[in-house]
Amino acid sequence: MKVETFTLERWMSTWEVVAKFDIAESGVYPLTTRELLDFLPPDERQSVENQLLDLRLGYNEARGTARLRGDIAATYENVNADQVLVTTGAIEANYLLVNSLLEAGDHVISVFPAYQQLFSVAKAVGCEVSLWRIVEDGGNYVFDLDALEKLVTPKTKMILINTPNNPTGALLSNDDLKRIYALAESVGAWVLCDEAYRWLDIPGGEPLAEPMRNLGPRAISVGTFSKPFGLPGLRLGWIAATEDIVKACWSARDFISLAPSGLSDLLASVALRERDQIVARNHAIVQQNLDYAEGWFSKHSELASWNPPRGGLLALMKYNVDLPSDTVANTLAADYSVMLAPGSTFGYEGHLRIGIGQTPAIFAEGLERTARCLERLTLGQTAAVGTQGAS
Ligand SMILES: Cc1ncc(COP(=O)(O)O)c(C=O)c1O
Repeated sequence: MKVETFTLERWMSTWEVVAKFDIAESGVYPLTTRELLDFLPPDERQSVENQLLDLRLGYNEARGTARLRGDIAATYENVNADQVLVTTGAIEANYLLVNSLLEAGDHVISVFPAYQQLFSVAKAVGCEVSLWRIVEDGGNYVFDLDALEKLVTPKTKMILINTPNNPTGALLSNDDLKRIYALAESVGAWVLCDEAYRWLDIPGGEPLAEPMRNLGPRAISVGTFSKPFGLPGLRLGWIAATEDIVKACWSARDFISLAPSGLSDLLASVALRERDQIVARNHAIVQQNLDYAEGWFSKHSELASWNPPRGGLLALMKYNVDLPSDTVANTLAADYSVMLAPGSTFGYEGHLRIGIGQTPAIFAEGLERTARCLERLTLGQTAAVGTQGAS
């Protein structure tokens, strides 16, 4: 299978080794192993530390341990451990699902803009992909359910959605999810809901919708320890689906990564147990960054604006310089050591993707440097216009 270049990942991996102020990051500032264990009560901490040190580093249970699958299953309604497959991140989960359930010629619908994997892998499989565009409406990015209804055909095999959305911060409500499920059911399609940003509600904001998996057998939820738990280095995610789907994906995974790491599996169990404390830590980071961003955008309204995220950790910043987004992003990275991902990598020109999960000190410095860069680029343009006028 030949898949097109993952433009965002190429851009991120080019600059993340160079730029010090990464405010393009899609996750929350990662935890260390010590910080994670510190969430445990002291007596249990000691016992888990011993389990970690004594863990024999053999191959792990291929689907993920029954303990971890059971813990994950318990976060859904009526899901058991056999209906969960632990994967190498949400990225492997999406890949396995698209490859196992779809074939060339199938019609699929993918939300757009989105994490590129959602539609690029389906394209590589040979599917006919229709994009369901998120639209801007009164200072918010919103999902237009009527537009989705028009895209569904009797040939539609899968609807791929992502809520909270990367990169717009848009949200689907419980009613939206029900309507999408009913649409899929009416044509015998699956709904793959990438819930990489589950549990990442905005403090004081709208509650997030329930997971898609709760809605019925055609609903598939994909989750991860990367974003809500600040543990992308574990490389652990999961699929929650019917047992048949889980078996099909497991069988495909035998050829890819075989089994998740046992060390990660154990640490992931700790993270799930201490979820409330981790969510509180995330809220504290996100709240500080949102407060700073609000002040920054009102002070620099001549340079840039945004629709704050309604959920998750990401939003699009619209800048007021007439330059392509990769020129602006590359200038920021090369001259100011700041990472803000170019909107072009999402097919969204004139914008930069910003993440609100970075440490507040780096987030604030990143934004200050961004202001200096945008001021310089604006002055450059004014000077260029002035020169043109004189000639
Ligand atoms: C929407 C979405 N899905 C999946 C992934 C992949 O995450 P993971 O680290 O769990 O593989 C990302 C990463 O940024 C994402 O934003």
